[in-house]
Amino acid sequence: MDRAVSGSGRPPSVLRLRSYAKVNLGLEVLGPRQDGYHELRTLFQTIELHDDVELRPRRAGISARCDHPDVPPDERNLAVRAAQLLREYAGLRRGVEIVITKRIPVGGGLGGGSSNAAAVLLALDRVWGLGLGFDGLHPLARRLGADVPFFLLGGTALGLARGDEVYPLRPQVEGEVVIVDPGRGVSTAAVFTRCDDTLTPRENGPTIFRFVSRYLEGKGDAFRLLSNDLEAAALEEAPDLAGKVNHIQGILVREGALLTSLSGSGSSYFGLFREARQARRAHSALLDEGFRAVRSRTLTMDRYRKSWVRTLAQAGRARGWDQGRNGHHGNHGRQGHPRGRREAQGLRIDRV
Ligand code: C5P
Repeated sequence: MDRAVSGSGRPPSVLRLRSYAKVNLGLEVLGPRQDGYHELRTLFQTIELHDDVELRPRRAGISARCDHPDVPPDERNLAVRAAQLLREYAGLRRGVEIVITKRIPVGGGLGGGSSNAAAVLLALDRVWGLGLGFDGLHPLARRLGADVPFFLLGGTALGLARGDEVYPLRPQVEGEVVIVDPGRGVSTAAVFTRCDDTLTPRENGPTIFRFVSRYLEGKGDAFRLLSNDLEAAALEEAPDLAGKVNHIQGILVREGALLTSLSGSGSSYFGLFREARQARRAHSALLDEGFRAVRSRTLTMDRYRKSWVRTLAQAGRARGWDQGRNGHHGNHGRQGHPRGRREAQGLRIDRV
């Protein structure tokens, strides 16, 4: 039976979203920016590991709940801020209840909070009938956080500037992923600040571009070029991780990983494998050594988009989301996003 159809045959009001995780296949930090952030060149990759996010229509308030004790229910939660920002931007008075079931490790550099926020933007854009789509949501996404715009797109993508200017890469990377959560998060801001101590600012970063050209030529060793400039700073910030990371890396390399790396600012560490058999062995070896490890797979942009097309079709049938509709007095029309536009430029991610 269609998940979107309830026992009474009427579509339910609750929306069920998959909010996927990412890893950074490579990350170069070029230097500090005027806005306090850092200029990056990074290669993002969505993976199948996901949180479940449910949205329920509410007349006014915006609230959240999560089964993970470290995820706050208020404005400190990026998903709540995403709903507030969109509501304010559109000038609506409607509310929403956000229920998050966490599977993505918290504070692990896997983009869980950013992904939850992007999922809320994409879904509410649809059920609130705003029609902003990818290009209309992008400025809101980047206000929420540097990683949020990537989750509007998904797949394998190059991230420039603060990481918020994202471009899809062809061909997309496909493979098996094993992720280890060493059990202690690190502060992203602290890792970036520490990174400044050893940083020699430069205009451009050659590594990711070299990777892209070698990968386009089909060279299997291209992944060896990639590294994460935040790794040393992350390990200084959390010295107890350093020993664990060497141990984890040893197991991943032994089982044939094409790439082993910290994700983002950590603390998750992952291996990318060509074959399921290799990933299975690495996973069970890590579990045997007492690590918390999960197996996953890369999720290409096409598959990411298809997943969203299905989800947003369900959202289009959902009932009960039009309460307070006449509260619309927003400013997005003035900013060139006419209400009711049916598709995002190019991507058509918001409409089937
Ligand atoms: O944008 P977001 O809130 O996810 O970033 C968290 C912190 O990471 C920022 O406050 C900043 O200190 C650091 N950061 C940075 N340069 C980037 C991205 C993040 O310095 N490109």
